[in-house]
Amino acid sequence: MSDSPVGIFDSGVGGTSVWREIHKLLPYENTVYLADSKNAPYGEKSEHEILQLSIKNTEVLLRKGCKLIVVACNTATTNAIGYLRQNYDVPFVGIEPAIKPAALQSRSKIVGVLATKGTLASSLFHSTSGNHARGITVIEREGTGLVPLIEQGKVDSKEIKELLEGYIRPMLEKGIDYLVLGCTHYPYLIPLLKDMLPGTVQIIDSGEAVARQTKSILGEKGTLRTTRSSGHHEFYSNGDLKVLEGFVRNDGLHYSVEKGDF
Ligand code: SIN
Repeated sequence: MSDSPVGIFDSGVGGTSVWREIHKLLPYENTVYLADSKNAPYGEKSEHEILQLSIKNTEVLLRKGCKLIVVACNTATTNAIGYLRQNYDVPFVGIEPAIKPAALQSRSKIVGVLATKGTLASSLFHSTSGNHARGITVIEREGTGLVPLIEQGKVDSKEIKELLEGYIRPMLEKGIDYLVLGCTHYPYLIPLLKDMLPGTVQIIDSGEAVARQTKSILGEKGTLRTTRSSGHHEFYSNGDLKVLEGFVRNDGLHYSVEKGDF
């Protein structure tokens, strides 16, 4: 069991930002990553469609023998993780916008959240925001159009910069001092965001917290990999393999990138 891989899925390449944190913390673990790029963006889909896609991805990962599944997509977590936990025996780790740490640390008491329409509309997002951000003004913005550009590998393009400026400016005008990234694609925009934001605004994403949670659950279940050799990483995409490879390529990494029929 301990050699079985950790499964990770996302609506596309964005969840590799989470995979990276997991690999950093758990370098011996084997992983299987599914990029469902053909169906991106999930954030514009109905709750029913997001659930069906999450079930499909889960079943592919279970067929590959995964011992734990990381839902590395905020939209899929907020819309489907409850169902997945109830209906499959394997443990699931999800990713939610890090509103709690931002709310606890904010001095201006005004926090910005950039996420997809599907995440912002979900009941899980509303209950998290309601529970952890009492006394805080949360400025929500849908990052419409960002995910499709990141899926094309255009993380540094003029188009994406213009979109991002349009989403960030109103938050800055309202006085945010924390910007929560509520989509696993968005950490790839951190270099652009750092150029746009004053030094007083902190950026928070949830990748590291997910990696810690993954380690803790594997530890509790006694399924951490015991072999002390670098893990092997299988990446599957039903979209553009070159884009996915561009996000994960790394000298010394034992990996493969293949077309997936899922
Ligand atoms: C999307 O597919 O719209 C974005 C995925 C996410 O919410 O992390």
